Amino acid sequence: MSENNIQFLAKPADRLNGEFRVPGDKSMSHRSIMLGSLAEGTTTVEGFLEGEDALATLNAFRAMGVNITGPDNGKVSIEGVGLHGLQSPGKALDMGNSGTSMRLLSGLLAPQPFSSTLIGDASLSKRPMGRVANPLREMGATVETAAEGRPPMTVGGSSDIKAMHYTMPMASAQVKSCVLLAGLYADGETSVTEPAPTRDHTERMLRGFGYEVVTEGDTAKLQGGGKLTACHIDVPSDISSAAFFMVAASITPGADITLKHVGINPTRIGIINILQAMNADITLSNQREVGGEPVADIRVCYRGLKGIHIPEDQVPLAIDEFPVLFVAAACAEGQTILSGAEELRVKESDRIQVMADGLIDCGIDATPTADGMVINGVGEGVRPFKAATIATHGDHRIGMSFAVASLRACEMITINGCGAVATSFPGFAELCNSLGFNIEVVDPDAK
Ligand code: S3P
Repeated sequence: MSENNIQFLAKPADRLNGEFRVPGDKSMSHRSIMLGSLAEGTTTVEGFLEGEDALATLNAFRAMGVNITGPDNGKVSIEGVGLHGLQSPGKALDMGNSGTSMRLLSGLLAPQPFSSTLIGDASLSKRPMGRVANPLREMGATVETAAEGRPPMTVGGSSDIKAMHYTMPMASAQVKSCVLLAGLYADGETSVTEPAPTRDHTERMLRGFGYEVVTEGDTAKLQGGGKLTACHIDVPSDISSAAFFMVAASITPGADITLKHVGINPTRIGIINILQAMNADITLSNQREVGGEPVADIRVCYRGLKGIHIPEDQVPLAIDEFPVLFVAAACAEGQTILSGAEELRVKESDRIQVMADGLIDCGIDATPTADGMVINGVGEGVRPFKAATIATHGDHRIGMSFAVASLRACEMITINGCGAVATSFPGFAELCNSLGFNIEVVDPDAK
């Protein structure tokens, strides 16, 4: 499981070439199981991410009586039970490392006639759930959390959910989705207004299941009491997983890679916009729409990066990509400034502090701030990352980011706690090595 202490011994490398597909989108994989379970009829999914996070969602619905076949090579088949067909799981639902599972499920489970307890691993147990508990309580739901709004969460069992309009205090797709999913069970219109655009996979996928969701400017709304009709879902590759290779190619002289069939939803393309603003050589081709989501092949060739002040309007569109963008900034010429990104402090780890600690240990000039980071990069021709031992704090994206740094390292980077990489990117190190990385995976428990 994700808490084991897999180590990556990431040695310097100097080549990166290939045409390949990274695993399926995590956000869409979660949602395909949730909506497929609540639909009428059999939903089929291809491209499903067989990572621990999405599997936590899948296992939760199995525990609530949904018949799910697979995953088998990314294929899953879900016999939907309808919006009112879930059964009490009879035990706590373990969400592992997955904030998306806990926050979205809290919205779906709050209206159920049975109560459910949601638990998680050490990282998830520290993350804020008040952001979903508060709006759910406003909708009339019974919600209990541990001190300071942390997990475990117990929801549902008594409640008559009321429709409401909610203005989100932070830009969070998880909170938006939680409220909209609870709104499926309310009488009347539930709407959510967001302070900045966040990923809209829930809205798009609900429409794919035949459920009307209206988006007007910064507000998404739906009427409760409808039904979901089973469909087929083709999950594209996760742009957040592709991001590691987009940065890897941008910092490795001579690199030329093509990432196939990547989701390029406009609410997710901050990584492309930011890297291009830093002078990256990125070309999109074969743009098409697959099941209501835009998809493209992405070619990235090496070109020296330049430091920038990252526009704050790009922050929610690249929210999961900052750990690896910090690695890009360390290699870029000049200063990169990130601000307006305080949300990074409440991800799978405090991504500002944990990345700053690791970068400084590698010899990078990085200064964490309350809501971002200032990094003075080295520019071309220098291998800035020195030997260091990195602690991931159970955060998959920290582990993968320092693995990318090894492409511009002059000595080995030891990355502890890489078990969590399997939450979103099974087979990461093997894929890296097939493209030119030099990562030795060590499992101390296997010795
Ligand atoms: C997600 C939304 C984002 C993102 C997370 C997945 C989703 O979180 O960081 O990895 O699937 O809705 P927030 O909505 O909390 O920013």
